[in-house]
Amino acid sequence: MGGLDGKVAFITGVARGQGRSHAVRLARDGADIIGIDICADIEANHYAMATREELDETIELVEAEGGKMLGTVADVRDFHQVKTVLDAGVEHFGRLDIVCANAGIAPVAFRQLSIEEELAQWRAAIGVNLDGAYHTAWAAIPHLLAGQRGGAIVFTSSTAGLRGFGGLQGGGLGYAASKHGIVGLMRTLANTLAPFSIRVNTVHPTAVRTMMAVNPAMTEFLENYPEGGAHLQNPMPVEMLEPEDISAAIAYLVSDEAKYVTGVTFPVDAGFCNKL
Ligand SMILES: NC(=O)c1ccc[n+]([C@@H]2O[C@H](COP(=O)([O-])OP(=O)(O)OC[C@H]3O[C@@H](n4cnc5c(N)ncnc54)[C@H](O)[C@@H]3O)[C@@H](O)[C@H]2O)c1
Repeated sequence: MGGLDGKVAFITGVARGQGRSHAVRLARDGADIIGIDICADIEANHYAMATREELDETIELVEAEGGKMLGTVADVRDFHQVKTVLDAGVEHFGRLDIVCANAGIAPVAFRQLSIEEELAQWRAAIGVNLDGAYHTAWAAIPHLLAGQRGGAIVFTSSTAGLRGFGGLQGGGLGYAASKHGIVGLMRTLANTLAPFSIRVNTVHPTAVRTMMAVNPAMTEFLENYPEGGAHLQNPMPVEMLEPEDISAAIAYLVSDEAKYVTGVTFPVDAGFCNKL
């Protein structure tokens, strides 16, 4: 039991990695969870997405914390899927307080791509990371407004949403563009929703130990990246953060401790964005 007792959180990309960690942490703090994950691979992305079994494991982990969770397969690129699942979840739990737009992909491949493959990478990154973030917020905002209790939306951006890196492929450029785009979405919603006490912020993680950062396609890309991996090093002595490190920031941002924190780009990056 904790500061989120009685509250309900909607989390996308919840089957593994950071999304799972956020679900477990928010459940530990008292929230019930409505979660979605695609649980199917995306063709232009060169590593596997989560599975239905992983989504079920997340539900078990939330329940082990004493929380309740509705976990459903849905694709954030499809607004109507997101809305249908969220509407049903809010009907079930009776309210919505917290939104974590976390689902994301980072398509990379260290080889010459055809023009069609480049375009497919770009569209996949924008579709999941930016369209998906908008769909998530757009499906959730009517419920937050209807509740008349305020609320908290946190979009997961990246250090690549504040700094320009990612190479010259459609996937890397699409990733950086989408993660910067999320900041514009956040800032505008933060202004528009402030009168309703709905707070909107972004988190910007440096590399986190999840499938996105630790997969053969990403490892090969980073090893062969023109500038090597040096520019991706953190000033603090840590190569990769753990998902729980990002969940701690989310838990703060959605809590009443942060009740006047809105419109903020919140790095959890071991000093990455501050370095010269
Ligand atoms: N891992 C990192 O180094 C890192 C760094 C900065 C930011 N991020 C961001 O953190 C977020 C979480 O990523 P992660 O590190 O946990 O990686 P991950 O690949 O382990 O998790 C992403 C989850 O999103 C799901 N997903 C992907 N596309 C989806 C879709 N269209 N609809 C619904 N679900 C979908 C996947 O199945 C997976 O469960 C992403 O937005 C990512 O861009 C990650």
